[in-house]
Amino acid sequence: MAFFFLAVACACYVASLAVLVLFGAGRRRRGGGAGRSGDPARGRLKLPPGSLGLPYLGETLQLYSQSPKIFFAARLKRYGEVFKTHVLGCPCVVLATPEAARMVLVSRAHLFKPTYPPSKERMIGPQALFFHQGEYHLRVRRVVQGWLGPDALRALVPDVEAAVASTLRWWEGRETSTFHTMKRLTFDVGVVTIFGRRMAEHVKEELRRNYFTVERGYNSFPIPVVPWTRYSQAIKARQRLGAILGGILSERRERDDTGDDLLGALMRYRNDGGAALSDDQVADNVLGVLFAAQDTTASVLTWILKFLHDNPKLLDAVKAEQMAAYEENDGGRLPLTWAQTKRMPLTQLVILESLRLASIITFTFREAVEDVDYEGFLIPKGWKVMPLFGSIHHSPEFFQDPQTFDPSRFMVAPRPGTFLPFGSGVHACPGNDLAKLEMAVLVHRLVTNYRWEVIRSSEDVTYSPFPVPKRGLRARLLRATTTTGGAEEGGRRAPPPEAAVALWRIGRCPGAGSPRTEQQRRHPAQETAGDPVIQSRGSS
Ligand code: HEM
Repeated sequence: MAFFFLAVACACYVASLAVLVLFGAGRRRRGGGAGRSGDPARGRLKLPPGSLGLPYLGETLQLYSQSPKIFFAARLKRYGEVFKTHVLGCPCVVLATPEAARMVLVSRAHLFKPTYPPSKERMIGPQALFFHQGEYHLRVRRVVQGWLGPDALRALVPDVEAAVASTLRWWEGRETSTFHTMKRLTFDVGVVTIFGRRMAEHVKEELRRNYFTVERGYNSFPIPVVPWTRYSQAIKARQRLGAILGGILSERRERDDTGDDLLGALMRYRNDGGAALSDDQVADNVLGVLFAAQDTTASVLTWILKFLHDNPKLLDAVKAEQMAAYEENDGGRLPLTWAQTKRMPLTQLVILESLRLASIITFTFREAVEDVDYEGFLIPKGWKVMPLFGSIHHSPEFFQDPQTFDPSRFMVAPRPGTFLPFGSGVHACPGNDLAKLEMAVLVHRLVTNYRWEVIRSSEDVTYSPFPVPKRGLRARLLRATTTTGGAEEGGRRAPPPEAAVALWRIGRCPGAGSPRTEQQRRHPAQETAGDPVIQSRGSS
């Protein structure tokens, strides 16, 4: 979750220069260079190549005056896959290989702790699991993960479908930002996951209003003393959210019914000594999950709509696949089932490829808790490390023609450690299955009932704070004109799902890139792997 750190600077880097000067000065003195601590290992090791940029400012201006992609690509070319920089007031070592990412997140994860600016911790709540490591993190994570696992999600499918249907009804006939529409959806799904179905509409509205004020403040510059700044307003909204959550907790206790939802699971939790989580711990984690679930999923959903729109033949094949489930469900009259969401091979490939190409989480942050020797380079204690997921996903070494949208590449498993849209290790995303469920259900309802017109399609990217198509992909949603109310616009019969993949792969979909030979599709490191379609490659 440290990627939200990025959001701060995206939104306000000009205003933050003065503070960076102060913050940077302190950091530099503490972070120091190699060899000052008296530790003999320090003397032997050298810092990675790279530039720490201007005094105090480092390379922050360069990072935020261009896209992060260009910033990192230029340095990777110049210095190689391990280099140093200085951004947002912190000296950093950037690591762009799967092995280095694994070292930070998995094999030597104990040497790197999660790191966030204090203003962000205050906004979400300092007890949220992603700020912690060790015993407390593991305990809370177990509860959250349990509630986001397959058993809980199976029961959640009708709620996700209802939220999707309601969002699409709202969108129908309007021209608006796809991203903002998707945020409505991910908020609703987040609320039903956390609070169940019973939340009164007026409480939900209060929650929504205050949540979005907090979110705006999170992405703004923290000036707490001035009352009208977004940051100050967000702090007040955060207090109101605390009160709303406190009210919900009291009401559940009075009813003596904790509820069959994530909030209930957190309330019921007891450690080995029988101690419960405090109300603040519950509230911080509830808000943390809501926060982590929202813009991330909404950004990827927006990209999926763009990629499908830009590849009409692929869209046809996805429609054909989805029609099978639609017909199975009596022309959409019966609800979608968990099993059906798992039987959409082409849609699943589209989801994986969208996660790779969009790479909405370009990197994450950790902080070295002691001096670390990585392949002869020194990562000094107190420095940040940044595993660069985006560069790994876009490397031609691991993904052929990496800038081409080609779902068929996932017919073969990527090399281990090269596909990390949900991170890896103890902090890997526990919401990855829910996110993928939302994507599958949205695609299903969308292509079987609607079509969408993109307004002034463009290849430009906006950071809000995650990368999304320019202006959030403005689009108009229209009901598909079919006799069945579904997607058989050309009067085709839907082939079974497996056939949809096959049809698309044998070349009916030139828009999606020409099909490759078996030899080309296999990554060299995968020569022995015979996996067919990969259903789930989140590294959690
Ligand atoms: C496409 C959507 C999503 C993407 C790309 C995504 C990505 C990630 C990544 C990369 C991390 C690890 C960050 C790090 O190691 O610093 C993470 C952590 C996390 N995500 Fe997600 N996420 C998504 C959706 C969700 C959803 C739907 C939920 C909850 C319902 C969620 C809850 C969390 C939580 C609680 C953490 C922190 C886990 C921990 O620290 O142990 N995410 N996510």
